Amino acid sequence: EKGGFEHYMTKEIFEQPETIRNTTRGRLDAERGTSILSGLNLSPRELVDIQRLLIVGCGTSMNAGLIGEYAIEDFAGIPAEVEQAAEFRYRNPIVGSRDLVLAISQSGETADTLAAVREAVEKGSLVAGLVNVVGSTIARETGRGIYLHAGPEISVASTKAFTSQVSVLLMIALKLARGRRLSQARGIEIVQEIKRIPELIEWVLETNDKIAEVAQHYTNYQNMFYIGRGYMYPVAMEGALKIKEISYIHAEGYNAAELKHGPIALLDENMPVIALANKGAGQDKTLSNVEECKARSAPVLGVVTAGDKESADIFDHVIEIPDCPQYTSVIPAAVALQLFSYHVARLRGCSIDQPRNLAKSVTVE
Ligand code: F6R
Repeated sequence: EKGGFEHYMTKEIFEQPETIRNTTRGRLDAERGTSILSGLNLSPRELVDIQRLLIVGCGTSMNAGLIGEYAIEDFAGIPAEVEQAAEFRYRNPIVGSRDLVLAISQSGETADTLAAVREAVEKGSLVAGLVNVVGSTIARETGRGIYLHAGPEISVASTKAFTSQVSVLLMIALKLARGRRLSQARGIEIVQEIKRIPELIEWVLETNDKIAEVAQHYTNYQNMFYIGRGYMYPVAMEGALKIKEISYIHAEGYNAAELKHGPIALLDENMPVIALANKGAGQDKTLSNVEECKARSAPVLGVVTAGDKESADIFDHVIEIPDCPQYTSVIPAAVALQLFSYHVARLRGCSIDQPRNLAKSVTVE
């Protein structure tokens, strides 16, 4: 049942080209340059009336939401905010009928996310679920939404659900953008890029042995920093969450710019920094942050664009991802960090599929 893999986590990591094909199947219109998301059940007129997006979730699902926030603002120019579901539910949130609340949950049963859904429904906003488990409570109570179609996720550490969530969020951003100022030509380009995601993942999976080799150098640390900017900032958070969960190494995901506002005091030869430094906006800034880390003797590992020799030379070790726009590069970068966490945890002898103290579905707050 693990399909020849030693753990569910690796099986699920390697399934991702296929799960993304399932997530996007029938949902991309290459001719009109848009996405088809009938489960949202919103007419073009209703979509254009939406004035704000509020995205709620917990853990990995919240990290996916942060990427959605960037994409929705970037493509569609609609203000978007992400809130941890418990904060949202207890804060007496300001939401109304022209806000679309997206509740993201793999299981569809997370207590805080469900309560956030109920609160948003109570306040009269539009609420849609991005859920993997068909017929789960959140899917039923939202009444509208988009199933991830990633298939059952058994490993406690979420991997394939995350990349499907991000893919759905990109399709939502595209849909909202096309109903506003985004041209058909630009829409077609974005559809083509989303269609390439399975290949981008395959490319990274083929470098698995190399990632395993790099991981050998990072098994004996107690702490790590993950840094990134823009679209890569949530990827840094997700990378840090993954390594904490399965290898029990303390890690923090930080915006690269924030490093010098305090955390840099922690850097020395025992604090590696993993930098999302692939091509795109902010890369030069991130690389100069990496230089600052090196000056404090921190070991530096870069996630870089394949063939980008200049930036690769700065790092002690690199993991490569294929060249693609920033909004899709989050996916190969996240997959690379999933594999990195997996190998670090395996080399440390950790229980990969069942980390201590964790449950797959958090149905109590
Ligand atoms: C991380 C992880 C958790 C979940 C979180 C939300 O690997 O598994 O952080 O992402 O508990 O769960 P769902 O998505 O089921 O609401």
